[in-house]
Amino acid sequence: MARILISSAIPYINGIKHLGNLIGSQLPADLFARYNRAREHEVMFICATDEHGTPAELAAAKAGKPVDEYCTEMHAVQADIADRFGLSFDHFGRSSSDRNKALTQHFAGRLADEGYITEVSEKQVYSHTDGRFLPDRYIEGTCPNCGYDKARGDQCENCTKQLDPTDLIDPRSAISGSTDLEVQETKHLYLRQSALKDQLDAWIDSKTDWPVLTTSIAKKWLHDGDGLQDRGITRDLDWGVPVKRGSEDWPGMEGKVFYVWFDAPIEYIAGTAEWADAHGKPDAEWQRWWRTDKGAEDVRYVQFMGKDNVPFHTLSFPATIMGSGEPWKLVDYIKSFNYLNYDGGQFSTSQGRGVFMDQALDILPADYWRWWLLSHAPETSDAEFTWENFQAGVNKDLADVLGNFVSRVTKFCRSKFGEEVPAGGSYGPDEEALIADLQTRLEVYQTHMDAMEVRKAAAELRAIWVSGNEYLQSAAPWAAFKTDPDRAAAIIRLSLNLIPVYAVLSAPFIPGAATAMLTCMHASATAWPHSMAQALSALPAGHGFDVPENLFTKIEDADREDWKTRFSGTRG
Ligand code: MF3
Ligand code: ZN
Repeated sequence: MARILISSAIPYINGIKHLGNLIGSQLPADLFARYNRAREHEVMFICATDEHGTPAELAAAKAGKPVDEYCTEMHAVQADIADRFGLSFDHFGRSSSDRNKALTQHFAGRLADEGYITEVSEKQVYSHTDGRFLPDRYIEGTCPNCGYDKARGDQCENCTKQLDPTDLIDPRSAISGSTDLEVQETKHLYLRQSALKDQLDAWIDSKTDWPVLTTSIAKKWLHDGDGLQDRGITRDLDWGVPVKRGSEDWPGMEGKVFYVWFDAPIEYIAGTAEWADAHGKPDAEWQRWWRTDKGAEDVRYVQFMGKDNVPFHTLSFPATIMGSGEPWKLVDYIKSFNYLNYDGGQFSTSQGRGVFMDQALDILPADYWRWWLLSHAPETSDAEFTWENFQAGVNKDLADVLGNFVSRVTKFCRSKFGEEVPAGGSYGPDEEALIADLQTRLEVYQTHMDAMEVRKAAAELRAIWVSGNEYLQSAAPWAAFKTDPDRAAAIIRLSLNLIPVYAVLSAPFIPGAATAMLTCMHASATAWPHSMAQALSALPAGHGFDVPENLFTKIEDADREDWKTRFSGTRG
């Protein structure tokens, strides 16, 4: 049994996430967590809301609420939607937690003690119209790297370059749009990432098995242009983790907070501590996941994220960990994703474009979305959601292949043999061929799941469903029944046995339908199949079942057109 620590990039608190966010980190992370639990590994799956910084302040202001109140409410909203999407976090924490405050201040103190923090007099943008400093997202302008004209003060969405607000060309206030801006001096802390460059470089080089998408982004920022730059890790804001050196005040830093990208990844650790607190467990229980001096040396740590998050997870956060001089666990594998586009454009939270998680669940069950999104995960390139493609994927894979198999087998059995696994006959060459085929496919499926090859795993799972359908079609128990009822009984016995096996293999993708399949087969305790021969004889003759309600309902053309229109504008 292995121990696997899994984190999903923590979503910003500012509103409900869209399907592009979901497939970029939380959903594939959940797939991997569910799969590894099913393989009987010990899993710790952590996510949280990212509550600090300008996105939270801006959204709270827009909602007309105090920012702490807004965050508490939105955390509950996001937790509920995550739950309804079947996201099986062991803990869904908050980056504003006391645990994260203390750990963030601890890391800053350690980094200072190790000589990795410098105090810098920095130029900041002051807006006369707004009467305040404009850090990060409060300021927009043209990216100096690629020329994109809606770059934000912290990062260019288009080319992923990390920016400082003063880097922007033609800057304007994101609050008022004003260009009446003035640069003023203020003192800030900088993390000396450049001093850790060689260490980071060697570490990235050692990760030969990482996806190219991950390492190429890391290498780009390590080597392009001026190479890895030191980063300002404090801000002149009210909302955030107060700047302290461990538990001590930091002279000259009064009234400042840490930059949101400094404290957010630390929440992966803090979230695990919150999990321990929530379950009344001692510190040793979370430390055994995170401290290599306290049991974490045999943990495999995998992070999931969209490509825009890669620089922070390959460079900034590892710099925090390495620079601390303490034995914290570094990530072992980073699975990153390209973008999912929406119907010819981008999903966009700020513009309300696309389908958001709550809206998705209003129209269809989570499994439909989970299956389509995972089987179209933007792994090797950007992918696109269209309603036609979504309808086709759901109808063909779920309804025509899997749903149809379950329904045909159970209904035929009920009509000819009653609602129990029939006795009579025995498995012959057709069954042996199917079992051998499924055994091979099972191993391929496991290989893809272990490697987090999400699309390939989905394709193999679909092939496993198709094999059963083709077997049923060619074995034709309805024909055999007329001349040789024992032969028909053997075919149906094997086919019924396939249902719990399908349920267990499919559960990481479609947990709701999997539970329904196990329930109807009275087989809720079914374990992961190792030998298909054994698994497909597990339900003996006489074992009862119920014919399930339609597992999946097809998406009609009229619904598709209706949704297409409904979601063509922007969210109100
Ligand atoms: N909130 C960020 C985003 O949605 C992700 C933060 S990931 C963490 O892009 F590492 F900072 F936690
Ligand atoms: Zn750019």
